[in-house]
Amino acid sequence: YTAEIDSDDLEKGTYPYYMLKEIDEQPAVMRKLLLKYQDENGKLTVDQEIVDTMLESDRIYIIAAGTSYHAGLVGKQLIESMTHIPTEVHVSSEFGYHTPLLSEKPFFIFISQSGETADSRQVLVKTNALGHPSLTVTNVAGSTLSRESNFTLLLNAGPEIAVASTKAYTAQIAVLAILSEVVGMSKGLIKKGTMLHDIGIVANAMQAIVDDKEKIEELASEYLSISRNAFYIGRGMDYHVALEAALKLKEISYIQTEGFAAGELKHGTIALIEEGTPVIALVTEKGVAGHTRGNLQETQARGAHTMVISMDGLNRPGDQIVIPHVNPLLSALVSVIPTQLLSYYCSLHRGNDVDKPRNLAKSVTVE
Ligand code: G6P
Repeated sequence: YTAEIDSDDLEKGTYPYYMLKEIDEQPAVMRKLLLKYQDENGKLTVDQEIVDTMLESDRIYIIAAGTSYHAGLVGKQLIESMTHIPTEVHVSSEFGYHTPLLSEKPFFIFISQSGETADSRQVLVKTNALGHPSLTVTNVAGSTLSRESNFTLLLNAGPEIAVASTKAYTAQIAVLAILSEVVGMSKGLIKKGTMLHDIGIVANAMQAIVDDKEKIEELASEYLSISRNAFYIGRGMDYHVALEAALKLKEISYIQTEGFAAGELKHGTIALIEEGTPVIALVTEKGVAGHTRGNLQETQARGAHTMVISMDGLNRPGDQIVIPHVNPLLSALVSVIPTQLLSYYCSLHRGNDVDKPRNLAKSVTVE
């Protein structure tokens, strides 16, 4: 299954680490996905059998681990808002212990960069035994999960070598956005699709951020290089990105980092804020921006060293990273990029092996 791999994909070229190369590749991955999922009339399209099976189902169960789980959280919002099919997201290693009461016509979506994660496969074995239809969203054609599920949607992101997942996360979200729009249109919920245009805008926004990475490198050394712990906060979509941002920072910098729902901070976690603790707020959602900023101020009043990642139009003077405005449903694709770069530079400045963090494996094939 390596036939499609271009030798360029496996070379770092002038990049010091694969992670930086993979962060930089994200705009191109978005554009490639748009080409891959377009029909001859220039419309986004997905295998009709997948669409029909989804239309017949009364509930979607997303099963995934690690970064792919975080992509699933964003995916749930995309699926529910565009298809109106209720969707649950489960960590695969937990699903087996307390299998939820399944609906009458469940449809399972497995999200896995490698397609080999044992915890996810163990769930697939069960759902297959129960005869439920399943789709795998993966970067690896012919992987175990792809072979053993009914359907596959490929990420076409090219091999991801760095242990910390970056381009697979954004590709997973983009594929779920495309799928959701196609299903939403079949259901008559969406009259005129916008994802082709909107994901194109996302690619440009990603490009603008990676082109300005020196600024993020400076912020990484100012905010994170000497810290023992850090927090990301956000609400709604921003909260899901906060979880992924925290995972990315902790796994390669070894700084203890937590992602929190901004409104939950005051129910306990704010006790951990000390003089100089970095707290980074993601502010891309109009309806909740004011509240998140309020929560950030509460941490500042307790000594936190705060940073704001905001979206153009919602920004205020003094915000440190302002990202271009995109369709709010796709904000995660853009707001995650500065957090990936912050993690990368922080790990680099600490002298860590960015691509091969201690104790971690790219693909975990044991339960
Ligand atoms: C490992 C990797 C993570 C990844 C997770 C799930 O822990 O280090 O980066 O998110 O597995 O992997 P998958 O291949 O199923 O997406």
